[in-house]
Amino acid sequence: MSAPLRIGFVGGGFITRFHLQSLVAVRDCVVAGVSSRSRASAEETAALARSLEVGPQARAFASTEELAASPEVDALWICARNDTRLQVLDEILEGAARRSTPLRGVALEKPLARNLAEARAVLERVERLGCPHGYLEDMLFAPHLVRGKEVLWRRAVPLAGRPFLARAAEEHAGPHSAWFWQPGIAGGGVLLDMMCHSLEAARWLLTAPGAPRDSLSPVEVVAVCENLKWTLPKYRERLRRRFGPEVDWEHHPSEDFTRATIRWRTEEGQEVLTETTSSWCFTGAGLRHTFEVAGPEYSLEANLAETGLRVFLGREIQGEAGEDLVEKQNAEQGLMPVSPDEPSTYGYVGENRHFVRAFLGREPVGLDFRDGLEVVRLMMACYRSAEEKCAVDPGDPSLEGYRPPAARAAEGTGAAS
Ligand SMILES: NC(=O)c1ccc[n+]([C@@H]2O[C@H](COP(=O)([O-])OP(=O)(O)OC[C@H]3O[C@@H](n4cnc5c(N)ncnc54)[C@H](O)[C@@H]3O)[C@@H](O)[C@H]2O)c1
Repeated sequence: MSAPLRIGFVGGGFITRFHLQSLVAVRDCVVAGVSSRSRASAEETAALARSLEVGPQARAFASTEELAASPEVDALWICARNDTRLQVLDEILEGAARRSTPLRGVALEKPLARNLAEARAVLERVERLGCPHGYLEDMLFAPHLVRGKEVLWRRAVPLAGRPFLARAAEEHAGPHSAWFWQPGIAGGGVLLDMMCHSLEAARWLLTAPGAPRDSLSPVEVVAVCENLKWTLPKYRERLRRRFGPEVDWEHHPSEDFTRATIRWRTEEGQEVLTETTSSWCFTGAGLRHTFEVAGPEYSLEANLAETGLRVFLGREIQGEAGEDLVEKQNAEQGLMPVSPDEPSTYGYVGENRHFVRAFLGREPVGLDFRDGLEVVRLMMACYRSAEEKCAVDPGDPSLEGYRPPAARAAEGTGAAS
C-alpha cells in the first residue's frame, strides 16, 4: 500500500472542523498541519486533528506559504474566507516554488470565487501550480443523492427516458461568522453562499452518470433575490448586536432569499429544468434541505433534514445554544431532529474519500476548478436576472465583468475587504 496523502488545511474554521470529522472515515490520508489567519485558530484546529486521531503529528504552521512549502505536506485543502482565494493561492505558489517534490493536489471549498473575473484568476493560478485540482462540492457525494441518482439512471431512465426536472432547496436561519453577512468580503449573500450547492446538485442529478458536464448546456436563467427578514429593523439590529457594527444590513445588505429556474438543453436538443431555492430566513428545528427529480414515469425525493432520529427535550431541560443536534439547529428544546452522522450525510466523507484517492492517482478527479467556475457563471447569471428582472443567457460574454449588486455597493464604503 502506498504512503498516505498528507493534507494541509488552509483555514481553521467551521468547514475545516467538518472535514476533520469526516476524515475519521477516510482511508489513506493524514492531517499534517493547518495554517489560518490567527496562530490560535491554527493551533486549535491542529489540536482537534490530533484528538480525532486523523493527524497524530498535525501542527500549526506560521503561514500558508510555510504549509505549502513543507516536505511534511502532499496536498492542500483551501477552506478560508471567500475574499482570500487569490491571496491564499499566491502564498501557495510561493511555497510550492520552494518544494523539492510537487504538490499532489489542491482542493478548494465553494464558492470557487466571488465573480467570474476572480474565478478566472483563481483558475489561472492553480493551473500555474501544475498539480491536479479539485472543487469541493459535498452535495455531489451525499449518499442520498449518489444512491438515488444511481437507481434512477440504472432502472428507470433506460425504459422511460431521461429526467426532465430537478428541484433542490437549502434553507436555514443564517450563517455563523460575521463575514458571510458582509457583501464586501463574502461577495454576495445567500445566493453565493448556498445556491452554489443546489445549482450544482440539481444539474448533476439531471446529467447521465459518467457524461461530461457540457452534455447539458444552460440556456436561460431566471432568478429572484429578496430580503425577507434580515433587513427588517428588529432583525438588522439583532445582526448588529450579534456580530458588531461591521454587519450593517440597514446600509449594506446582501440577500437572504433567492430562487432560480434554469433551462438546460441536452445534446439531443431536449429541454430540461432545474428549480432551486436558498434562504437564510428559515426557522425550523434544523435546516430545510430537500431534493426532487421527476422523469416520464418516475420520481425521486430526498430530505436530508429527516434524519430518522428525534429527541424530545422537556421544558425543564434548558441548555445552551449549539449545533450539537443538527447543523444550524434553531432550538434546544421540544421535539428536535438529531443527525447521527452529519459528515457522511452531507457528503464530506464521500467527497474527501474521492479527492484523497484522486490525488493519490487512483482515480480521475471528478470535479475541478473549471467546474467551480461554471457554477460561478450560473450564479452571476442569477444575480443579473434578479437585478435586471429579465431572463439571462449564461453564455453572455458580458457576465465576465459582472459583479453582484451588493458587492458593488459595498465598494468604497469601508465595508469592502
Ligand atoms: N461545503 C460547505 O457546505 C461549506 C460550509 C461552510 C463553509 N464553506 C466554505 O468554506 C470557506 C470557509 O468557511 P467557514 O464556514 O469555515 O468560515 P469560518 O468563518 O468558520 O472560518 C474561516 C476561517 O478562515 C480563516 N482565514 C481567514 N483569512 C485567512 C487567510 N488569509 N489565510 C488562511 N486562513 C484564513 C479564518 O482564520 C477562519 O479559521 C468559505 O469559503 C465557505 O464558503 C463551505
